[in-house]
Amino acid sequence: MQSTQDIIIKVQEIEPSSRHRTIFETFENLNEGGSLIIHNNHDPKPVYYQMMEIYGEVFSWEYLQQGPESWEIKVTKTSGTPVLMTEEGDLVLNVPELHPSVKHQTIFETFDQLKPGEGMIIHNDHDPMPLYYQLKNMHGDTFSWTYLKNGPDWWDIRIAKENETDGMPEDAVYKNVHNDYVINVPRLAPKDKHPTIFGIFEKLKEGESLIIHNDHDPKPLYYQLLNDHGEIFNWEYLEKGPQWWDIKVSIKEIDNSETIGEITRKDWRKAEVFKKYGIDFCCGGNKTVKQACDENGIDFNLVQKDLQQTTASGSGGYTNYDEWNLDFLADYITNTHHNYIRKNMPEIKTYAAKVNSVHGGRHPELEEIHQIVEQVDKELAEHMEEEENLLFPWVKRILKSKNENAVYDKGGEMTFEQILNKSMEEHQIVGDALDKARKLANNYTLPEDACASYTLLYKMLDEFENDLHTHIHLENNILFPKAAEMEKELI
Ligand SMILES: [Fe+2]
Ligand SMILES: [Fe+2]
Repeated sequence: MQSTQDIIIKVQEIEPSSRHRTIFETFENLNEGGSLIIHNNHDPKPVYYQMMEIYGEVFSWEYLQQGPESWEIKVTKTSGTPVLMTEEGDLVLNVPELHPSVKHQTIFETFDQLKPGEGMIIHNDHDPMPLYYQLKNMHGDTFSWTYLKNGPDWWDIRIAKENETDGMPEDAVYKNVHNDYVINVPRLAPKDKHPTIFGIFEKLKEGESLIIHNDHDPKPLYYQLLNDHGEIFNWEYLEKGPQWWDIKVSIKEIDNSETIGEITRKDWRKAEVFKKYGIDFCCGGNKTVKQACDENGIDFNLVQKDLQQTTASGSGGYTNYDEWNLDFLADYITNTHHNYIRKNMPEIKTYAAKVNSVHGGRHPELEEIHQIVEQVDKELAEHMEEEENLLFPWVKRILKSKNENAVYDKGGEMTFEQILNKSMEEHQIVGDALDKARKLANNYTLPEDACASYTLLYKMLDEFENDLHTHIHLENNILFPKAAEMEKELI
């Protein structure tokens, strides 16, 4: 029966998006025993199920008219509802009244609908602490949790959504007032976490930052970024647990006073760019990029752009020699680069002689290339011998003295510094000689009458010089300066 006090909701007259909300709000405002009438042009049964889910069995649902053109249902509140509103405007969820299957869902949905600064109250018959952790997991530090009543029979907790400036807003990625990207990692789906962080990192320009907000220390990410991109970024902890970790990751600004050697030492892949422009990064590693460009008439801006792109491309296979122990690095140089020279030099000498004898008449530069090969062979044989017998063992002695706090033997006739300088002078001589050979060979461009041996000789020389550049880089830019610094601390 419809009574005069009943509120009639003519569903068709309400804007579609507000229909359900209007019904629920009207129902919530009913006193116990009060009714509302739903008037509709079809059976609003879905509303019934939704109300059952949200409120449980606290209402009756009585059909006053059941089609065919209109439907009228009387909804009566039979007992206190689980959702109320306080005078301050906080929604109160009477949790025991909620249907068990929808308890958590209702709380989370209510929380989601709160605007920053708004609150809700959970009224429960036990301490709902697990809910706190669940919310924390889902929303991070975006809410406060205050006990208004803490047992023994009832627990009332006010959950308020923080203002955006106080905590993390809902979005997983946003920009803060400093225009830094903030990535609220727990809010991202596991499969999206790394791609999101890497995607934003790779878009960062010099001097720009992103902030990683996470519920544990994301240190493995640091190593992954380092491996993929080299030491181009700073990793600064703004907060270090126990609940939250905030890390500011910023792209280092390119220091124009940095030498080519230092740049290559920090990120070995940059050597590719220097190679491309014919900039000497090993023997000439003590110059700045600007100096080298000016001296060789190379466009500085182009080189800078390429250096930056090398950083952003992030392909694998990056070896950070700079992190290696010096004794390991010395052995690595011997086993890799010295052995390479010993293995390939005899063959290169044979071909240089042979190609010169066959083609020297038409290509007089081959005579000089042959002489350079002989000279380089002689220089390097002595040079490597000295490194392996004197210099590298010396480096190991320095390292040992430092690590074991033992007495350091400064050696005899020559100081460590002198031996390093001698070695670097020899690098320069060999480097210049090979550079000359490359120029004579027109950057190893083959003439039309080149035979297979000619082709092989140029290929081997090209490769040999590349390997030597890496080799000298490891010594001039990493091993020697680090060992020299270490030695200074001992004397
Ligand atoms: Fe060497
Ligand atoms: Fe060397």
